[in-house]
Amino acid sequence: MLRKLSYIIQICYLLLLCSCNIKDTHPISIGFSQSISESDVWRKSMDHAMEVEASLHPDVKLTIYISDRNVKKQIQHIDKMINQGVDVIIISPYESDSIVPVIEKANQRGIPVIIVDRKVNTTNYTAFLGADNVEVGMIAAKQIVSLSKGHANVVEITGESVTTPGTERSFGFKQIIDQYSGIHRISINNDDFNSPSSKYVKILDSLPNIDYVFAFNDIIAYNAWKIAKKKKPNNHIKFIGVDGLNGPNGGLQLVKDGVLDGTVLYPTGGAEAIKLALRIANKEIVPKNNKLSTTLIDSLNAEIMGSQFDKISLQQSDIEKQQNFISEQEEKYSSQRNLLRISITLSILLFLFAVHSIYSRIVISRKKKELEQTNEKVISQKNEIEKFAEEIKQNNEVRLNFFMGISHEFKTPLTLILGSIQSLTDELKNKGVTINNELNLMYNNSRRLLRLINQLLDFRKIENDKFILRASKTNLFEFTKSIINDFNREAKSRNIEFTLTTNNEELEIFIDRNLMDKVYFNLLSNAFKFTPTNGKISITITEDKINNSVKISFKDSGIGIPENEIEEVFKPFYQGSNNYKNSSGIGLYLTKKLVELHHGTIEIVSKIGSELLIKLFLGKEHLQNEIIVDESDLNLVYQTDYLDLQVFPKKEPKNNEDNYTLLYIEDNKELVEFISNKLAVDYLVHTSDGTNPIEIAMEIVPDIIICDLNLPNKNGFQISEILKKDLRTSHIPIIILTASDDPDSYLKALESGADIFLTKPFDLKVLLQSIKSLLFNRERLHYYYSNNIDNIVKNDEVRFDVSEQNFLRKLNEYINQNIYQSDYTVEDLASDLNISRVQLYRKVKAILGISVSDYINNIRLEKSTELLLSTKQNISEIAFSIGFSSPYYFSNVFKKKYGISPKDFRSQNSKIK
Ligand code: FRU
Repeated sequence: MLRKLSYIIQICYLLLLCSCNIKDTHPISIGFSQSISESDVWRKSMDHAMEVEASLHPDVKLTIYISDRNVKKQIQHIDKMINQGVDVIIISPYESDSIVPVIEKANQRGIPVIIVDRKVNTTNYTAFLGADNVEVGMIAAKQIVSLSKGHANVVEITGESVTTPGTERSFGFKQIIDQYSGIHRISINNDDFNSPSSKYVKILDSLPNIDYVFAFNDIIAYNAWKIAKKKKPNNHIKFIGVDGLNGPNGGLQLVKDGVLDGTVLYPTGGAEAIKLALRIANKEIVPKNNKLSTTLIDSLNAEIMGSQFDKISLQQSDIEKQQNFISEQEEKYSSQRNLLRISITLSILLFLFAVHSIYSRIVISRKKKELEQTNEKVISQKNEIEKFAEEIKQNNEVRLNFFMGISHEFKTPLTLILGSIQSLTDELKNKGVTINNELNLMYNNSRRLLRLINQLLDFRKIENDKFILRASKTNLFEFTKSIINDFNREAKSRNIEFTLTTNNEELEIFIDRNLMDKVYFNLLSNAFKFTPTNGKISITITEDKINNSVKISFKDSGIGIPENEIEEVFKPFYQGSNNYKNSSGIGLYLTKKLVELHHGTIEIVSKIGSELLIKLFLGKEHLQNEIIVDESDLNLVYQTDYLDLQVFPKKEPKNNEDNYTLLYIEDNKELVEFISNKLAVDYLVHTSDGTNPIEIAMEIVPDIIICDLNLPNKNGFQISEILKKDLRTSHIPIIILTASDDPDSYLKALESGADIFLTKPFDLKVLLQSIKSLLFNRERLHYYYSNNIDNIVKNDEVRFDVSEQNFLRKLNEYINQNIYQSDYTVEDLASDLNISRVQLYRKVKAILGISVSDYINNIRLEKSTELLLSTKQNISEIAFSIGFSSPYYFSNVFKKKYGISPKDFRSQNSKIK
């Protein structure tokens, strides 16, 4: 852009120059070296004449240099003109010799030189211009001769002797005068006439008959006249001068005034010199000597000459005025021209800028368009890529979901396979048949398959950040011990020294047991996989109080990890280059992620063998409150590759009426059959395929409900929610089974009121244990009730759920209101509570562990103890008042409960009081 601008400016400049050159013709430069200053009027007249003449020629540029009788200065001026390369040099020399070299220099350089007035001692100049000074002297002499008729005394006052006019005028004067013997001539130099030593003054004094004085110029002549007048006022001396300048004090005027008797016209030649210079500059051939004519001015022609000179002067001043006007006009013209030039230049510039900016705009808009098009292309390509990527992602997602779905689906058949193997084993054991190794193999491989599926699902969960920690306070040593038990068998069979040591067996930390179990299992599986027979595997737990942490080291004497692969080990799908065994490559990746979920770290400490070191924080400050749960029991079944089937105990079905009733809601027939069979050993099992679970639950009011999550009508959460809200079933513990174990489901299960949430494939042992725990808790409550019946009756018991408390409160209210009516039956109570008799019976039995009639009796008996102690009513009265129809029956029941008859009770307790 800048370069373009500079081109434009250069073009304008050239245009400007061209416009100047077209209008101006080539100027002629003339340099004039004047030897004497303008205080000398003759010189002033010469300079003026030159200027006037030059002004008539617009193409002439005249420069005048004045050297004030200084020869050196005059030489410098001429030299300067030579160097400037003027077209013509005009010189009015001061003296004849010293100036010669510079004149010849100009000549050599080819610069024409015109000499005016005085002569020089060289011929190497172009032309000479001036009057003939010999002739001037002669004219003056002839005038004296003529006026004196050959008899007179004449004084000649010469000028400076160094000048050629002086010598030549004197020479011409002498030549004529000396022809006449009657004329006596005395020649003196011009000096200071006012000085008493002046020759002229002396002559005036000594020679009384002086007739004529001829002076070198009019000024000297005038001065001589003045002195003579002063000395001899009546003298008749006639004075003749030279120059004859027009104007005040000029020779012409002095003649007119009668001061001088004559003056020889000595023209300055200023105008002629310029004319001659122009001719030379125009390459005309000019004569070398150009003589200016001269003449005598006396009283006879002074007037005419004067008026002619005045006319000339007038004309000259007119010319000057016109010239001035012209130059003013020229100046105006030139400034206007300059303005015009500037405006033309600016216009051109503007035009060029406009053109340039239009051009730039076009270029820019074209480029913009191109860029926009490219941009559009890029955007559409980007969109396509994004769309494509999104499609790929979605496809991938669909495939993954499908894959994960299938993996989930594997769980149910695997549960069946595992359960079947267990049951087969039990059967064989019952028959006293030794368990086949193949059965063990089937079992172990099914578990292994299960573990792989779980790992796959865990991988997906980790990738989607779906794992949520549920940390509970855990004794780390016990926890570790329970896991290593599962590996002891293999350690033993392969003679591997397998040890666990710790510096604090009591150490408790907050971990998610399920997740930490996966961590342990992965690390131990790897250790066992790569440790040869007779090798060593050790787990060391070290509490580090200073750093508020615990280190768990897993060390083995296996093949180790290649040095250059250490960084890679925890990356997904890593396969060690020295690992020739099958492996998914996600175990260590999962392990690391699960440890990090605990805000812990895992690193490889040693590569010879391998030592993996986990660091976890002590306490729970590093964990959010919401993820801390209370799991006091270690009710986990740890996943292992190897389980000994011998551990499963065999039990005969009891089919006892007193057994707890259980409702199993599941739509998979095979599973229903399999699980029901297993549960029937200990419980009275009812089943529902999920089409009418609520109705069945209401009808049978079971002691416990096991419910699948995904069912045809209502899902497990909905069923749980309905049952938990209903007075008739709210007390029933519910276990929800599901194939999905994401945290959302877990939370939903809790919200729905479910008591336990088990993920498929659930281990039968876990299920049985869970049922047992729930029923055990219930029994604990029964036990508590039987020892705290008073509190329950008095309604200040807080160990029940809110819904159970409400139920009990209502129950107590109705019983207390009707306690004195012997005809108030269980049916009446049930109908007051708006439930069936069976439901009431089951509910009270479930909550309190006794029948509803026993409960009513308990309350009546409790009341009777109060009456026995606080009233004076007899036993029969008390029995009737609390609703017993027979005093005998009351006494029997009382004695049964308290081990003492009412009568004795009253007498013993009153005594104590
Ligand atoms: C002026 C002058 C004139 C004379 C001429 C001779 O300087 O003295 O009066 O005619 O010079 O060079």
